[in-house]
Amino acid sequence: MARFTVRESPPLRGTVRIGTSKNAVLPIMAAALLTQEEVRIKSPPRLSDVRTLLQVLQECGCESDLEEGELRLRAGHVRSPESCERMRRMRASVLVMGPLLAREGQARVSMPGGCAIGQRPIDQHLKGMEALGARISMDHGGVVLQGRLRGAAIYLDMPSVGATENLMMAACLAEGTTRIENAAKEPEIVDLAACLSSMGARIAGAGTSTVTIEGVKRLHGAQYTPITDRIEAGTMACAAALTGGDLLLAGARSDHLRSLLFKLTEAGVHAADTPQGLRVSGRAGRAMEVRTMAYPGFPTDLQAPLMVLCCRTPGTSVFLETIFENRYMHAAELARMGARIRVEDRVAIVEGVRELTGAAVRATDLRAGAALLLAGLCARGETLVEDDGGHIDRGYERIEEKLRAVGADINRVCESAPGYSEF
Ligand code: UD1
Repeated sequence: MARFTVRESPPLRGTVRIGTSKNAVLPIMAAALLTQEEVRIKSPPRLSDVRTLLQVLQECGCESDLEEGELRLRAGHVRSPESCERMRRMRASVLVMGPLLAREGQARVSMPGGCAIGQRPIDQHLKGMEALGARISMDHGGVVLQGRLRGAAIYLDMPSVGATENLMMAACLAEGTTRIENAAKEPEIVDLAACLSSMGARIAGAGTSTVTIEGVKRLHGAQYTPITDRIEAGTMACAAALTGGDLLLAGARSDHLRSLLFKLTEAGVHAADTPQGLRVSGRAGRAMEVRTMAYPGFPTDLQAPLMVLCCRTPGTSVFLETIFENRYMHAAELARMGARIRVEDRVAIVEGVRELTGAAVRATDLRAGAALLLAGLCARGETLVEDDGGHIDRGYERIEEKLRAVGADINRVCESAPGYSEF
C-alpha cells in the first residue's frame, strides 16, 4: 500500500533522469534462463515488478546478485516454479514460459495476473508454443507445456508484445528457423533481440512485423544495458506540459516517443532533442484526438497521463482505446476532481475545464495511478492518491522524488509493501 499527497504546483523546471525501461528489463531478465552462463544487466530500475520477477526467477533456480548497479543472473540449473503465487501477481512472469520450455523441454506456468485493465489472455503465447511443437495441458490452474521445439511459421492474431517476446526467446533454442508474422514492433522487442543476439542468438527483423529466428544449440552469457523507459519519459513530458513547465528528460529517446511528441506539438507544446536529452516546455492550447495502437501508434500506457493533460486543455478531446477493454478507470477518479469525461465503451470524450480541485482518489492500476499524481499537480488544494495495490511503485522508481526535485509539491505519506526499494 502506498499513499501520496499532492498540492497544486508551480511549473515544473529542471532535469529528470529517465530510468531503465521496465518493459525492456523484464523480458531480458527472463532471457537469462536461456543460458547457464551469467547475464549482467546494467542499471536495473528499482521497481517492485523487477523484484517480483526476480523472485520468480529465483524459484526457477536462478541465482542473482546486485553489485555496482548491475543485476547479475546465473541460471545454472532451471526448473519450473513450484508455487504459482508470485507468477499470478504479475503478467510479465509468463515470460519465463518460453525460456524454460526451450531449455528444459518442459514448463509449468500460472495463468498470469497484473493490472486489471482487461482480460489479457495468453492464447497467442500458447498458440505459438504449440506451433513450435509443445504439447499443452492444464493442471490445477497452471499451464503445462512439454516437448522439444522445432522452428515453425507463426502468425499472431494481434501484435502482442509479450507473445512476440516469449516466442522469440523459445525459438532461439529451437531446432531450425522460426518466423513470427504480425509480430509486435515495440522498442522493447528490438532491445530484447539485441540482448539475445549478444548472447549468441540469430535474430533478424526485430522492430518489423516479421521476426525470423534461426535456432542455435546454446546461448552464452552477456552484459547488456537496456533502453530507457519511454513510458516514464512520456509521463514526465505530460507533467511538464500540464504545469506549463520546462523539463529536460535526460536519457529519454525521442525516437521511441514520436506518437506522443506529435500529439503534444500539435497541441502547442514545445519538444526538442538536445545533446542532454529531450526538452519539453510550454502548455497545451488545443484539444486532441488520440487513438491507442500497437507501436509505432500511440501507446496505451500513455493514454491516462495524456488524458489528464486534456482535462485542462481548452476544447473537446477524444480518446479511442483499442488495446485494452477496461482502461478508463482513472476517468471516474478524475471526475471526483472536477474533470468532465464521458466514457462510452472504448471512447472517452474529455471537455477541458478551467480548474480541477484536490480530492481523495484511488489508483486502480499502474498508469492510472501516475495520471492521478499528475492531476494533483494542477488541482487546487490537496489531492490524496491512495494506491492500496502498490501499483505506482511497480512501474515508476520513486516518482515523488523525481517530481519533487523539479518543483512539485508531492509527498509519500505511506510506504509501499516492504522491499520496494531493495532487490
Ligand atoms: C505489454 C506491456 C504493457 C503494455 C502492453 C501493450 C510489458 C511487461 N507490458 O503488455 O505495459 O500496456 O504491452 O503495449 O511489456 N492479447 C491476447 N492474447 C494474447 C496476448 C495478448 O488477446 O495471448 C491481447 C491483450 O489482451 C491486449 C492486447 O493483446 O488486448 C495487447 O497485449 P500485449 O501486447 O500482449 O500486452 P502485454 O505484453 O501483456
